[in-house]
Amino acid sequence: MNNSIIKTRDITKVYNGSSVQTQALRGASIDLPRGSFTAIVGPSGHGKSTLMHIIGGLDRPTEGTVFINEQELSRMDNAGLAKLRSERIGFVFQFFNLLQNLTAAENVETAMLFAKVPEKEQGKRARALLEAVGLADKADAKPGQLSGGQQQRVAIARALANDPDILLMDEPTGNLDSAAEAGVLELLRSLHQKGKTLVVVTHNAEIARKAEQVITIRDGRVL
Ligand SMILES: Nc1ncnc2c1ncn2[C@@H]1O[C@H](COP(=O)(O)OP(=O)(O)O)[C@@H](O)[C@H]1O
Ligand SMILES: [Mg+2]
Repeated sequence: MNNSIIKTRDITKVYNGSSVQTQALRGASIDLPRGSFTAIVGPSGHGKSTLMHIIGGLDRPTEGTVFINEQELSRMDNAGLAKLRSERIGFVFQFFNLLQNLTAAENVETAMLFAKVPEKEQGKRARALLEAVGLADKADAKPGQLSGGQQQRVAIARALANDPDILLMDEPTGNLDSAAEAGVLELLRSLHQKGKTLVVVTHNAEIARKAEQVITIRDGRVL
């Protein structure tokens, strides 16, 4: 497919530990159209996070090719990958990964440092993003003063800081109660409507049902 924003071909990944080798991916090929909403499901330990990290340029495959926007990642050096990540891709992790001694607004601003947003604009933009995820009144709160659902919405605002085309989320509701989960799900729907390409690793049946396509990963392969 030519209009795929994310395309992988036969990716394998071997982790070389000190005593054991783990083959996390055994030839995974996927094509995700621009603007699509994809859920990635499968048992724990079968390679879902590894696939997300490779798609997002956080890690490199052992073999195989990855194209983002028709750019082949293996041809890019680490600086090129970092630039791609900061400009085109937003990441959301299961455990939020917020900096505890920064406020919500400052956490969102951290994502803009690398993308060279003028300093004057950073604070304004961070607040606008927090407002967009329903946290206008929490901009000056630190993560410890926020619920899990609120922290995850801060993390989503941070992922949106540079207006990426692609949002990769690894179990974004894995640590949320059902009310917070519903809030995040609603946010995903509105981002999808705005044309973002969403890829969500999830065990949440509701998210998988809302997605346009579901990819199952088992034993490092796409079923
Ligand atoms: N950095 C790493 N070093 C060594 N092994 C890893 C590393 N990351 C993941 N693995 C192993 O790779 C396999 C796939 O892991 P992962 O992609 O995290 O699975 P999932 O997200 O589906 O739970 C597992 O056996 C895991 O232990
Ligand atoms: Mg995982």
